[in-house]
Amino acid sequence: MTEMSSETPKAAERKRLYIKTYGCQMNVYDSERMRDLLTPLGYEPSDTPEGSDLVILNTCHIREKAAEKVYSELGRLKPLKEDKAAATGTPMTITVAGCVAQAEGAEIKKRAPVVDLVVGPQTYHKLPELIAEVHRGRGDALDTEFEVEEKFDTLAAPERQVDGYTAFVTVQEGCDKFCTFCVVPYTRGAEWSRPVDQVVAEVRALAAKGVREVTLLGQNVNAYHGAAPSGHEADGTWGLGRLVRHLALIGGIERIRFTTSHPKDMDDELIQTFADEPKLMPYFHLPVQAGSDKILKAMNRKHTAAEYIAIIEKLRAARSDIAISGDMIVGFPGETDADFEATMALVRQVNYASCFSFKYSRRPGTPGAAMFGQVDEAVKTERLARLQALLAEQQQAFNASMVGKRLPVLFERDGRNAGQLNGRSPYLQAVHCDAPIEMIGQIIEVEITGASKNALSGRLVPEETRAA
Ligand code: 5AD
Ligand code: SF4
Repeated sequence: MTEMSSETPKAAERKRLYIKTYGCQMNVYDSERMRDLLTPLGYEPSDTPEGSDLVILNTCHIREKAAEKVYSELGRLKPLKEDKAAATGTPMTITVAGCVAQAEGAEIKKRAPVVDLVVGPQTYHKLPELIAEVHRGRGDALDTEFEVEEKFDTLAAPERQVDGYTAFVTVQEGCDKFCTFCVVPYTRGAEWSRPVDQVVAEVRALAAKGVREVTLLGQNVNAYHGAAPSGHEADGTWGLGRLVRHLALIGGIERIRFTTSHPKDMDDELIQTFADEPKLMPYFHLPVQAGSDKILKAMNRKHTAAEYIAIIEKLRAARSDIAISGDMIVGFPGETDADFEATMALVRQVNYASCFSFKYSRRPGTPGAAMFGQVDEAVKTERLARLQALLAEQQQAFNASMVGKRLPVLFERDGRNAGQLNGRSPYLQAVHCDAPIEMIGQIIEVEITGASKNALSGRLVPEETRAA
């Protein structure tokens, strides 16, 4: 993406922003900051509140009766909000910022219900997120103006939902996390889970068609909290661990996976499921994005590096052979050499079986795009190369550690060479093996004889000595 397109989003439909600033020079400066933060979201300054999409009263507490002045201004805005809603179908969003917001807090909304949002000076950086939440609360249409970048914004996307013996089942959509680099919360909306009964019905139907492995999909799949199935209504909702255990009871389903998870949503039941549900495969995709707490905070990841490592340790205690995979971003705004070294250190500590890594890309409309300290492209390139070299080494070593082992492989399709089939190990590694075509759709033990960075090769374990 070029610098130009970062500054001027394609966010086609322009929105109008009116900011009224009261008081001191500090407030004048803050109003400028808010304007800068909102420009990438498509907001253009307006001189009058009439017809504006977003009105911010940036208030000051110094003068006497400051709060009263704000309330009378809100009284004047009320009919304008209604006019705007009548004319365009979307109401004006009214925000109170500044010292009065700080001092009065939620009281303001009680006394003046016309106010949608109250935001104190400490949280201006969260304005895009808070405004998106107001829109969600009102049920406004989702923002479709973000430029799509396939590699970031689509789920670990299946080309086909059902591919013979493996299938993808969406159980959760949307995201409430608002990582500051990401467009998903704005484009996909709030977190939402399918009821357990619906998921079970779909998985049963897939099993009846011969599917042996299901991958449960969700932007924040481990935030899953679907309505409990009939007979268990008293439970309210079920988490992902419970859902996995339940799906494991469906005849014909031999393997269960899920993706993508967020560290903040990890719970002990899910970790325990790795320990005692053999159908849950020992492979876990848990993105961390960075190893420096300063950068994690700027990314609004809601966890520290140590908390992430603690989860990995718990997972390994539950299932010692679990393969960990992740996502990493290099060159987030403000990332220094030391911050990047913290990412390298975390990667060394985790020792990934596989990991995606990206250069930070400035997505118009996200808070990160407006942050100071954007990192030079050449620096990002150099950091990514170093990180990828380390990750490649780890992936190669993980694959090499399989040589000599016997792994149950689900054969999925013909291989490239005659007489060869391709399948997957429990750890999601591709496995090539000479095997008869009738074995497609079966889980068969394979002795691993070779490993490259991207695949394993092996030979069938003679039937009489097979465990699986
Ligand atoms: N820049 C770089 N990487 C990004 N991702 C999402 N948005 C961005 C961005 N703006 C990456 C994250 C996420 C994965 C799906 O895509 O690592 O986990
Ligand atoms: Fe984007 Fe963060 Fe939500 Fe993942 S958790 S979809 S990276 S905002």
